[in-house]
Amino acid sequence: MPPALSEAAVRQALQTVLDPDRQKDIVTLGMVQGLAVKDGHVAFAIEVDPRRGAQLEPLRKQAEKAVDALQGVLSVTAVLTSEKAPGASAQPPRPAQAHSHGGHSHGGQPQRDPRAGPAGHPTGPGGKMLVPGVKSIIAVASGKGGVGKSTTAVNLAMALAARKLKVGILDADIYGPSQPRMMGISGRPHSPDGKTLTPMENYGVKVMSMGFLVPEDTPMIWRGPMVMGALEQMLRDVAWGELDALVIDLPPGTGDAQLTISQRVPVTGAVIVSTPQDIALLDARKGLNMFRKVDVPVFGIVENMSYHKCVNCGHVEHIFSHGGARKEAERLGTEFLGELPLDIVIRETSDGGTPITVSKPDSEHAKAYKQIADKVWDKVTAALGSGGRQAPKIVIQ
Ligand SMILES: Nc1ncnc2c1ncn2[C@@H]1O[C@H](COP(=O)(O)OP(=O)(O)O)[C@@H](O)[C@H]1O
Ligand SMILES: [Mg+2]
Repeated sequence: MPPALSEAAVRQALQTVLDPDRQKDIVTLGMVQGLAVKDGHVAFAIEVDPRRGAQLEPLRKQAEKAVDALQGVLSVTAVLTSEKAPGASAQPPRPAQAHSHGGHSHGGQPQRDPRAGPAGHPTGPGGKMLVPGVKSIIAVASGKGGVGKSTTAVNLAMALAARKLKVGILDADIYGPSQPRMMGISGRPHSPDGKTLTPMENYGVKVMSMGFLVPEDTPMIWRGPMVMGALEQMLRDVAWGELDALVIDLPPGTGDAQLTISQRVPVTGAVIVSTPQDIALLDARKGLNMFRKVDVPVFGIVENMSYHKCVNCGHVEHIFSHGGARKEAERLGTEFLGELPLDIVIRETSDGGTPITVSKPDSEHAKAYKQIADKVWDKVTAALGSGGRQAPKIVIQ
């Protein structure tokens, strides 16, 4: 065993990082706040002047890199914060929790409970927050942005709702919330009791998004700390009521933010969205590995923008190497859930606030989403045992 990573070692590494304007290191300048080191996972905040926020992203990256180079570091999360930002909490990020390996579990607790627990229990096994009344949680993830994660999430939610299930969408995409636009909802959620937030609603589906809590034009520097607070609030304080399924639109990527969310809420299973070229670039595999690390079952892969059908002649053009997802899913031991072509109608409906599954329910693409939703729902009910939809009990007297 190598010696455990110490706080002192991390500070020493950060002393090599200079503030570009003041030419002194960020430790000496007192900019490093809330350093937390736990089982190889490191997190800290760098306190900066809000006016310099945008320019200091390279500094943040440099700080992460300096720490990452240390032996024994498994993950590094650095955020820029500013105490001067109105409404911002200077709370540093928390390091990703340690994961168990080789069947060894922490504190003798079972790894995870796939079912949302009863009301009144704020956390479940493994310290996860349970969302009262929510029977299942489906996370939609992608290796990077722009692959159609939000489009898939919204249409999956709509297709589940079309099955008469009670559905909610939690848009946890911190830097690019798109559900307000895709669901055609604007305004701010109410808080009738000053504590809980009532989700917004359209097409019979409840929605909560960063976009409702943090205005779109908020400068990035304020967004960091504000969104951390808002995310906490979204996970903890939303009055979802009774839901069969909560679909979470995760931020793109497979880093710590995604890991943290997956650890905080009892995700029943994850759906990974990929374009054919991501599959070639192994992004899908990264996503899969991330969820496996935290024992979240991966329901399968959806291939998006997988081919292009000519609107004039119906000729199918494979822009990227089509079919990779099916093969890759097989190879990785997960399921291929379905594919959607690159089609202007999908774009127009999702960006126009009228997702295709609800606005053109009989279209070919809506049917494809419904088939994906059917597969996902089968997996949810299997994961929950009989808990997804209670089977009638046979009582022998
Ligand atoms: N199958 C598709 N065909 C055409 N446009 C699509 C398709 N899927 C997504 N889009 C469009 O691509 C853009 C990015 O999709 P989005 O769902 O926002 O991606 P992500 O959430 O992964 O960043 C959006 O404008 C969306 O409408
Ligand atoms: Mg998105």
